[in-house]
Amino acid sequence: MKTQFYRLLDSGFGSKLEQVGDVRIIRPAPQATWILRLPDSEWKKADAEYDYDKGTWSFANPDLPREWTVKIGEISMIMKFAAGGQIGMFPEHIDNQDLFQAIANHQKEHERPFRLLNLFAYTGAATLQAASLGAEVVHVDSAKSSVNWAKANAVASGLSEKPIRWIVDDVRKFVQREKVRGSRYDGILLDPPSFGRGSNGEIWKIEADLLPFMKTLMSLMGESFSYMKLSTHTQGMLQDEVKGLLKGITAHSPIPGNVRCFDLANVEESGRGIFLDCGSCAVFTIK
Ligand SMILES: C[S@@+](CC[C@H](N)C(=O)[O-])C[C@H]1O[C@@H](n2cnc3c(N)ncnc32)[C@H](O)[C@@H]1O
Repeated sequence: MKTQFYRLLDSGFGSKLEQVGDVRIIRPAPQATWILRLPDSEWKKADAEYDYDKGTWSFANPDLPREWTVKIGEISMIMKFAAGGQIGMFPEHIDNQDLFQAIANHQKEHERPFRLLNLFAYTGAATLQAASLGAEVVHVDSAKSSVNWAKANAVASGLSEKPIRWIVDDVRKFVQREKVRGSRYDGILLDPPSFGRGSNGEIWKIEADLLPFMKTLMSLMGESFSYMKLSTHTQGMLQDEVKGLLKGITAHSPIPGNVRCFDLANVEESGRGIFLDCGSCAVFTIK
């Protein structure tokens, strides 16, 4: 993946060196079981480093601003040195060409906007990408702090007036209510964590909860349903499983389509041809 806002500069010995906009960071990458490409001097230029064992960030310059903004196509995302080594954006989730195409196709054929349900939606990159293309979005995440961060990203992107419903809730509770209300969507996107909590502390465990949850999503697929993406960072959950799950659910879509699956990976800019495996992903489209 070649982008302006993000470059994986180097990786190895369980770490990765990343350029995120103007800021260079070092974070753990247990999957990088190889040697480094760049000299030490390049790693020493890092502005910040996350220590997994201590759970803290350290800074080369103590006056480094703790927030910065990156422009990703039409949207702007505020980055922060957050808990768990997160920064407010997963580069492996930024390339949503299939979604953009589904929205464009829908808009050619229908007079109403594409309706997207974004579940486990975090700081809203996909929400804002879709909204910038004219979609109506329902953004669901159990963490109020993430939803507030996503709203701030909407303001930074000049998209705060767009039709986005911001929901702080457990995805299962929200989807159950939508089912009862008879709500229907044209697209659904979900990136469930291995372990999470609903807004009232309800425990989410992917191995027990994903399958029954996906089943409830079937009732939210509208007449012009044309897109669904399921991705996971869960170790050991392989492409076949993710693909099988999505195929089973979307076989009930009113319009038949295809499911393709791929690794969530960022290729190194170095041209070493090394991919940092981040998980698996499957996408349903009708064209
Ligand atoms: C891996 S992140 C999703 C990242 C997102 N795909 C992106 O690229 O920005 C997982 C998110 O799920 C949320 N979450 C975890 N359990 C949840 C639950 N039961 N209901 C709703 N959200 C939940 C977390 O708060 C977190 O923001």
